[in-house]
Amino acid sequence: MSLLELDDVKVHFPVKKGLVFDRTVGHVYAVDGISLSVEAGQTYGLVGESGCGKTTLGRAVLRLVDITAGGVVFDGTDLAKLPDEEMRRYRRRLQMVFQDPLGSLNPRQNIESILSEGMAAHGIGTDRADRREKIKAILAKVGLPTNSLSRYPHEFSGGQRQRIGIARALVLEPDVIICDEPVSALDVSIQAQVINLLEELQESLGLTYLVIAHDLAVVRHISDVIGVMYLGSLVEEAPSDALYAEPKHPYTKALMSAVPVPDPEVEDRRERILLQGDLPSPANPPAGCRFHTRCPWAQDTLCATERPVLTDVGGGHKVACHFAAEIEAGTVGLNRPIGIEAVVGEGTPPLVEAAEPADEPAGESGAVPAPREAAEKADTV
Ligand SMILES: Nc1ncnc2c1ncn2[C@@H]1O[C@H](COP(=O)(O)OP(=O)(O)O)[C@@H](O)[C@H]1O
Ligand code: SF4
Ligand SMILES: [Mg+2]
Repeated sequence: MSLLELDDVKVHFPVKKGLVFDRTVGHVYAVDGISLSVEAGQTYGLVGESGCGKTTLGRAVLRLVDITAGGVVFDGTDLAKLPDEEMRRYRRRLQMVFQDPLGSLNPRQNIESILSEGMAAHGIGTDRADRREKIKAILAKVGLPTNSLSRYPHEFSGGQRQRIGIARALVLEPDVIICDEPVSALDVSIQAQVINLLEELQESLGLTYLVIAHDLAVVRHISDVIGVMYLGSLVEEAPSDALYAEPKHPYTKALMSAVPVPDPEVEDRRERILLQGDLPSPANPPAGCRFHTRCPWAQDTLCATERPVLTDVGGGHKVACHFAAEIEAGTVGLNRPIGIEAVVGEGTPPLVEAAEPADEPAGESGAVPAPREAAEKADTV
C-alpha cells in the first residue's frame, strides 16, 4: 500500500447568492474526482495551469478545505473520515510548504518563535532549550546560519525565506511534505538551489513529497511520477521519464511544447502548441472531455459528449483521452492549427505564464514579497 492514496477526491465549493438567505446557486468544481498514489520516499509532481485545482487538492489532503467526496488514505487511515480532534494528531505528519515564503511567515515573529510554535503545539521537545537545539540542527540542514534564530523574516532573501518555510515543516518531523509552488516566487537562479535542497532533504530524511507546480520544468527532475491536471481532474500520469519522453495527452503535449530545450538547434525547431482560448470556468466545466474546447485534436464523436477515463496504456502510463492511440499513430488529424504562427495575433494568451500570482488565501500568505529582485541579489544561499 502506498503511503498516501487519494481515491476519487472531489472538492466542490458552493457558489452562494442572496444577502439574506445565502442560496447555493451552483458549485465550483475545483477538484472533481482525482485518484493518485504517492509511494513512501518518492515524489509525486502535480502540474497544470493556474486555476486547475492543484492548491485545492493539496489543501484537501491536509483537510484545510472540506472534502466533498472521496478518500484520502494516509498510512492506512482515511483522513477524510477522521473526526477533527483525531485529524489534529495526523496533521503533524503531513506538512505544507507554501508558494510565498514571506507572506506565510509572520513578520512580527523571529525565526525561533516561528519554528518553535508548531513544535510546542505538537509536544515536540521537552522544553525551550531542547527545542532550540532541535531548531539549530534543522537550520543547519536547510543551509541557514545559527544566528538566524533571533532574526525576523524581512531580514532574509527570498531563497532564504523559503528555506525557513521548509525548516518550519521539518521541525515537526513530518512523513509527507506538500510543496505548493515551492519556487514560483523565487528568482530563476535561486529556484534550482531550493529544488536541490528539497532533494537532499528527501534523501537524508526519507521524506515523501507531493510537489505542485504550474511549470513542468520545475517538477521534472525531482519527481518520480508526474500527474497532469486540467480543470479538476488528471488527464495523464506517468513515471517522470516516460511522460517527458512520450507525452500522450494533447494537453500534456501542449504543456511540454512550452518548455524550452537546452540544445539551441532543437530549440530553434521546437514547435510550440499554443492553445486557443482560456481555461474554462470550473463553475461550468465543458461536457464530455473537459479539454475538448481547446484540444487541437478534438473529434466530432465522443469528445464533446463522453468524459474519457484515466486508463493505463502500459507501464503505468495513464491517459484520459478517447483518441490517444490514434493521435500517437497519426490516424486522426488536427482540427485546429497548433503552430505558433497560426495563433499569434489572435490574442491567445500563452499556455504557461511566467509566474503565477500568489494565490494563497489572505491570512496564510497575504502580500507578495515586495522588492523581490533586490533581496534575491543579496541571496547568499
Ligand atoms: N475557497 C474557495 N471558494 C471558491 N472557489 C475557490 C476557492 N478556492 C479556490 N477556488 C477556485 O477553485 C479553482 C481552483 O483553484 P486552485 O486550487 O487555487 O487552482 P491552482 O492552484 O491550480 O491555481 C479556481 O477556479 C479557484 O478560483
Ligand atoms: S478526448 Fe478528444 S478532446 Fe479530449 S484530449 Fe482526447 S482528442 Fe482531445
Ligand atoms: Mg495554486
